Amino acid sequence: MKSVVVLGGTGFVGQQVCRLLTTHGWAVTVPTRTRSPAPPVTGVTVRELDVHDADALAKLVTGHDAVINLVAILHGDSATFEYVHVALLRKLVSACVRQGVPRVVHVSALGVDEVHPQTGPSEYLRSKGRGEAVLLHSAQAASLDVTVLRPSVIFGAGDKFLNMFAKLQAVFPVMPLAGAHAKFQPVWVDDVAAAVVRALERAPDAHSRAALPRIIEACGPNVYTLADLVRLSARLSGVRGGAGRPVFALPGWMARVQASMMELAPGEPLMSRDNLDSMKVDNIASGKTPGLEVLGITPAQLEPIAAKYLGHK
Ligand SMILES: NC(=O)c1ccc[n+]([C@@H]2O[C@H](COP(=O)([O-])OP(=O)(O)OC[C@H]3O[C@@H](n4cnc5c(N)ncnc54)[C@H](OP(=O)(O)O)[C@@H]3O)[C@@H](O)[C@H]2O)c1
Repeated sequence: MKSVVVLGGTGFVGQQVCRLLTTHGWAVTVPTRTRSPAPPVTGVTVRELDVHDADALAKLVTGHDAVINLVAILHGDSATFEYVHVALLRKLVSACVRQGVPRVVHVSALGVDEVHPQTGPSEYLRSKGRGEAVLLHSAQAASLDVTVLRPSVIFGAGDKFLNMFAKLQAVFPVMPLAGAHAKFQPVWVDDVAAAVVRALERAPDAHSRAALPRIIEACGPNVYTLADLVRLSARLSGVRGGAGRPVFALPGWMARVQASMMELAPGEPLMSRDNLDSMKVDNIASGKTPGLEVLGITPAQLEPIAAKYLGHK
C-alpha cells in the first residue's frame, strides 16, 4: 500500500484530499497542531505534531512515498508569512531528501510568480512565490519530483467566501465591498482535490511524469467579479427572496480603512490590508501555465454546486 503525509490535511481542501486518497487506497497520515485530534476523515492516521520542527517533520515523512503540502495562512505579518510559506518548504525539502521521500505535491495560489516573487502585490503572494522558488529550485538540485498546483478561490460546502457573503447579507442591510471589481475564477474543492491526487498518481510512471508540467493552474470555467459573487451568494441562499442586499463598491481609501478596522477585531479577520493588496491583480488563469485539462479534469460550474449548499441556509 502506498503511503502519503498530508500537511494541512485537516483544512477545507485537505479533508477532501484525504477522503479521495483513502478511496484510492493510499495510507494517509496527517499532522496537526490540535491537541488530542480526531481524524479529519475516517481511515486517516492523525498525529499531533509541530510541522515547523525540522526533526519531527523528518521523522514524520520517513518511510512514506510522498508528501502533499496544504499548509498556508491568509493573515499575518511578514515574519509569519515567511515562516509558514517559505521556511516550512525549506524544511520539507530537506526532510524529504534526507529520508528518501521522492515526491511532493504542493498547493500554492493563483497569481504567484516563482521567478520574480517580489513583484507580487501582497505579502501573501510574495511569500507563496518565495516558497515555490525554494521548493522548485532545491527539488531540482536534489532530484525531488515536485508538482505545484495554483488554485483560484476555492468553493464547496464549508468554503470561507460564498458562505460568509451569504451569512453577512442575512444580517446586514447593505454590503460595503472592498475589491468589488476584482476578478476571480472560482474552482470546486472536489476538482482541486482530484487534481492533487491525479498529479500524485501520475508520478510513479516515468513516461507520464515527463509529460506532467511542474506548475498547473486550477481555475473554474467562469470569471466573476467579487461583487458578482456577493450577489450570487444572496441569490442562491435566498437572502431577501434572492434579491440580496445593495452592494456598494468602496473606493480604495475607504476599503483600506475598512480592512484596517477588521484587522483590529478579535480572532481571524474577515479582511486585511494584505488581502486587499492581493486583489490588485485579477485572480484568473494566466494563459501562460497549463490548467486542469492537463490532468484530464473538466472543472465544474459554480452555480449548480453552490446552490446545493447555500440553499440550505
Ligand atoms: N481556500 C481557498 O479559497 C484557496 C485559494 C487558493 C489557494 N489555496 C491554498 O490551498 C491550500 C489549502 O487551503 P485551505 O483553504 O484548505 O486552508 P485551511 O482550511 O485554512 O487549512 C490550512 C491547514 O494548514 C494548517 N495550518 C494553518 N496554519 C498553520 C501554521 N501556522 N502552522 C502549521 N500548520 C498550519 C492547519 O492545520 P491544523 O490547524 O490542523 O494544524 C490547516 O489544516 C493552501 O495552500 C491555500 O493557500 C486556498
